[in-house]
Formats: sequence, structure tokens, C-alpha cells
Amino acid sequence: MTGEPEIGDVFGEMIRDAYAVATGIGPRPMAGGRLPRPVIEIIERDDGLVNGAPAGHYLDPPQRWQPHDHRAVDRVRGHVLDVGVGAGRIALHLQDRGVPVTGLDTSLGALRVSRHRGVRDLVHGTVDEHAADGRRYDTFLLLGNNLGLFEGRERAPAMLAALAALARPGAQVIAHGTDPYGTTDPVHTAYHERNRRRGRIGGQLRLRLRYRLLGTEWFDYLVCSPEEFAELIHGSQWRLTDVDDTDHPYYLATLTLR
Ligand SMILES: C[S@@+](CC[C@H](N)C(=O)[O-])C[C@H]1O[C@@H](n2cnc3c(N)ncnc32)[C@H](O)[C@@H]1O
Repeated sequence: MTGEPEIGDVFGEMIRDAYAVATGIGPRPMAGGRLPRPVIEIIERDDGLVNGAPAGHYLDPPQRWQPHDHRAVDRVRGHVLDVGVGAGRIALHLQDRGVPVTGLDTSLGALRVSRHRGVRDLVHGTVDEHAADGRRYDTFLLLGNNLGLFEGRERAPAMLAALAALARPGAQVIAHGTDPYGTTDPVHTAYHERNRRRGRIGGQLRLRLRYRLLGTEWFDYLVCSPEEFAELIHGSQWRLTDVDDTDHPYYLATLTLR
């Protein structure tokens, strides 16, 4: 035993257990074999910071959503690709409103929970992999902070190109991001500085997720200001046409295909 986690579908196992706790469907995680154990998403950052957050919100019905989630779904038009569909909270709501929606995710476990909850059209993979399937969309949603999937300066051009390859004329991307720079916490400000010294974007997080015995590989997840996001978009097939920062530090960035 090395103490290092086995690499696996961390998000999938976590969301399966959160679903079991919320619904009683499937074995619930128990403490001491008797008491239900809360399901916590453990996030490790490469400076050693460890954070935990209850995973139940991934299952939340619209009544418990953040206001920006509602504003995002009010903006969709045409066929929607929910990128990183998770447990399907957004896709289910759109489907109920009669909006054609496809959920995409790299986690088989998340897709299983989404399907069980009723999401009808689901695809396993990344946007790059899906672009080869020939399907095309009018709106791409990256909610639940999934602007993070742009990762940083290296990944963003390929991600933007894959989204453009999947896009119909006039398509839009609506991405939820968080501006990380309002903090005065030295743990975070020192991390942002360290990143910049290494040529990275300040809030370009290097993370891995843990759940029970499993871990993910280390990956980049982008938490940036709207201005930094605008720089990433510059020169791509997309234009940044709106930033809704009513719920600052959270914001919705809307991109429109050129
Ligand atoms: C923070 S959760 C957000 C879930 C959902 N959008 C929500 O708002 O509840 C991130 C989701 O993105 C998925 N994901 C991570 N990397 C991905 C990638 N490269 N392509 C597609 N999905 C990805 C994860 O498996 C997870 O379901």
C-alpha cells in the first residue's frame, strides 16, 4: 500500500452514493455500518490545499439552484448540449420544458445516474470526441463552474475549436465561471502568484478529486476573471458577447459563433 489512490471514476462513484442517500436507490454509504454517511467531494490542489464540499447539490431541483443557473437556462435556444451533464439537474429541467437536450460527460457513473433520473439523450466522452459523431447544436451549456473545462492557455484553443465543430450557425456557449481574485486569503493569493510565476493563469488550478479509495489523475481547471476569459477567446471562432456578473464573483459568459 502506497497511500496513493487507485485511478477511477471518482465523480461517478460519488454521485452514485449521493443519489443513494437522496433517494434510497442503491446501497447507501454508512458510518459504522449503521448511520448514513454524508457524501463529500474531496478536492486536492497541488499546493497541498484540501477542500471538501457536500455532493448533494449536484442533484438539486430548480427550487434550490443559484439564480445564475435559472438565467442560463432562460437563455437557451435550439438543441442544447449540456457539457459535463453530471447528475443531470439542468438537462432534466430543460427536457421537462420540451427543450431538445443532449447530456455529455466523461464519467460513466454520472451518466448512469443521469439516465436513472430520466435524462433520455446521453453521450459518453469529451467535446473533441463527440465532434466526430456529426451531431450539431445551437447552445452549449457549461454550468456548475464548468467554464473550468477550458483549463488554461494550452487547452482552450482546442476546446473552442471542438465546440465550433459541433456548432450550428449562430450557436452560443453559456459558461458559468467564478472570478477568484476578490479574496484576501493568503493561501489563495500566494497560489495565484505562484501560478503566474510559472507562466500559468493565476486561477489555473491543478487539482485531483478523491472519493473513498479512488482518485483522478491531476488535471487543470480554470477559475479566471471575465477579462482573462476574454483573452483566451480572442482570435478563436467565438466572440464573447455578454458577461452577466449580477451574482459576482460568479458570472455567466456567453460566446457567439462568428
Ligand atoms: C462540477 S461537475 C458539474 C455538473 C453539472 N454541470 C452541474 O452543474 O450540476 C463537472 C462535470 O463535468 C464532467 N467532466 C469533467 N471533465 C469533462 C470533460 N473533459 N468533458 C465532459 N465532461 C467532463 C464531470 O464528470 C462532472 O460530471
